[in-house]
Amino acid sequence: MRVLGIETSCDETGVAIYDTAYSGGKGLLADALYSQMDMHADYGGVVPELASRDHTRKLLPLVEEVLAEAGLTRQALDGIAYTAGPGLVGALMVGAATAHGMARALDIPVLGVHHMEGHLLAPMLEDDAPEFPFVALLVSGGHTQLVSVEGIGRYQLLGESVDDAAGEAFDKAAKMLDLPYPGGPHVARLAEQGDPKRMRFPRPMTDRPGLDFSFSGLKTHTLTTLRELQSKGALDGQTRADVARAFEEAVADTLVIKCRRALDQTGLKRIVMAGGVSANIRLRERLAVECEKRNAKAYYPRGRFCTDNGAMIAYVGAQRLAAGECDAPGQMQATPRWPLDQLREPSACKTA
Ligand code: KG4
Ligand code: ZN
Repeated sequence: MRVLGIETSCDETGVAIYDTAYSGGKGLLADALYSQMDMHADYGGVVPELASRDHTRKLLPLVEEVLAEAGLTRQALDGIAYTAGPGLVGALMVGAATAHGMARALDIPVLGVHHMEGHLLAPMLEDDAPEFPFVALLVSGGHTQLVSVEGIGRYQLLGESVDDAAGEAFDKAAKMLDLPYPGGPHVARLAEQGDPKRMRFPRPMTDRPGLDFSFSGLKTHTLTTLRELQSKGALDGQTRADVARAFEEAVADTLVIKCRRALDQTGLKRIVMAGGVSANIRLRERLAVECEKRNAKAYYPRGRFCTDNGAMIAYVGAQRLAAGECDAPGQMQATPRWPLDQLREPSACKTA
């Protein structure tokens, strides 16, 4: 089954085609991405209305691009999947309306899929894909969650952030350091030059049991530290890098401590890390060390599939559409808030 995947939940327009006739990454026939990052950078964050308008401009040209790359016509598609949430409602509507319109015209099934399920299963597109069951750490701009994954649609939430997401904390720390949006990669780059021994930032909620996270205190600590240094006239270039390093070390350590606990609690030996923050090299290094110690294995999507993309949506959509799941005709979904553990195993069409 050849499925067109459409991702428009935030500031990236992603489109891809996945074919279930092949397994793993070989099924990915084409993928294309347009990032709106430069446009939003001028405003220091995503402007929802501008995001929706830009998706409208870029989506159909990207659909043509992936069809050309795969050497297919629209008529060769067997289904369409789009991100139905969570995300910005206007941006989601662009993908949902386009997917439903195309599916109606082509008389093929269409399905709204969960953005975080896309991130969660993105490592399935790699040659070295994990087998079920595994623990997943989802770390994006909007979510920080530890999930026990038994199979597609069989997710149990183990813990999540009670306030800011890890990516959001990176973005806010970047703002405090006068770095551009989105801040994660910029903070990581600056942290490279920082001295890891100069400052130690708190590892929030690691001194008590449980798998929940909190990053707002770390954010306040970063701000207070920067203000104090500034008031002393001590905020030179090296000190900024040292602050970035202390912040990054604290986030990476906190996430890895909770991963270790999740592996202990579940007894599992495989862990998937996905979502934008999983691109962070320090976090990957820390997790690798931890996994080696306990004979566990970490799995990641390739760099460009860590952040938002159409390939993960095409993959999830293809698995579910192939099982017969689909939206009712004309019932497009755009759900800004949608807990991951509400998902169920793939099932036959809701309209049947
Ligand atoms: O998954 P994603 O592309 O979008 C959401 O679904 O939110 O994640 C974006 C987030 C942003 O907060 C960005 O700053 C962060 O991922 N990010 C990083 C890195 N690359 C992206 N954070 C830390 N280090 C990175 N290398
Ligand atoms: Zn995402």
